[in-house]
Amino acid sequence: MVSEAPETSQELSEVLEDLRRHLLWQEEDGGRILQVDARLAAELRGSGLPRPQAMLRAQAAKAVPAPAPATQPPPPTPAPAARPMAPRAMVPEPPPARRESPAERLLDVPPQARPYAGPLPGVVEGERPTLDEIRRELGDCRRCKLCSGRKNIVFGSGNPRAELVFVGEGPGADEDVQGVPFVGAAGQLLTKMIEAMGYRRDDVYICNVVKCRPPNNRNPEPDEVTACEPFLRAQLKAVQPKVIVALGKFAAQTLLRDSTAITRMRGNWREYEGIKLMPTFHPAYLLRQPAEKKKAWEDLQQVMKFFGKQPGQRG
Ligand code: URA
Repeated sequence: MVSEAPETSQELSEVLEDLRRHLLWQEEDGGRILQVDARLAAELRGSGLPRPQAMLRAQAAKAVPAPAPATQPPPPTPAPAARPMAPRAMVPEPPPARRESPAERLLDVPPQARPYAGPLPGVVEGERPTLDEIRRELGDCRRCKLCSGRKNIVFGSGNPRAELVFVGEGPGADEDVQGVPFVGAAGQLLTKMIEAMGYRRDDVYICNVVKCRPPNNRNPEPDEVTACEPFLRAQLKAVQPKVIVALGKFAAQTLLRDSTAITRMRGNWREYEGIKLMPTFHPAYLLRQPAEKKKAWEDLQQVMKFFGKQPGQRG
């Protein structure tokens, strides 16, 4: 049974006393074990008092504001200064999804609701940029350390007015040599996927989160993503597709500002700056885990359905 909130100061002190005792035999959050007073513990077990855990759960349920029933009484008066431990402090908070800046913490807004606020290179406020303007702005980029190992900047390729854009992670060895995205083994699979959807590769636009190859195909690092992300955003502003397919976690998490795992995000329509976005698995992952291709195909079929396309049907 869920106990009522304490209403008198007598009841409140009893609850606080119980909490104090509870702390004596509970493991602390950080793994430190508090000393157990065996005599007190035995006394507690025989006391017939409500179990501290159950009381805490009941208190915590009352402390969470969102699903409160209409009849819920007001929260209990704060504990006296000599006993500062409040029931709410005992409820472990889930860890933050990603490291937040102090300003973000102050704003208390979920990450996925925060739009990218930085400047877009080559973009004049209120105007649609061209891909050429953005590429010129990128120049012989030295904005991050990836510039030192690259052979070529891999900006993007395809139809500058595409209704469908694919965003990958970053160039691999083949892309670095050719300066074109998705031309290696993963690229060949992506091309097959695009064709199976009823497009030619030239019909769509393909680009990456980072434009230079990370050494040894390692993951792009946060400072590299931060340096390159404005160019990706500017590219999407230039192309203005109806749908973006985010290939893998870097594309999905960067564009959506959401650190949810790709395994959970994939297959669910999202929105990026008013554009529909479908997160799915990266083709390189599908080469390693061919059994997952079925799921990726289901995701792409949702995109086809949006465009009213049948498999293999061109135009
Ligand atoms: N993987 C990517 O994410 N992008 C490429 O261009 C090639 C492989």
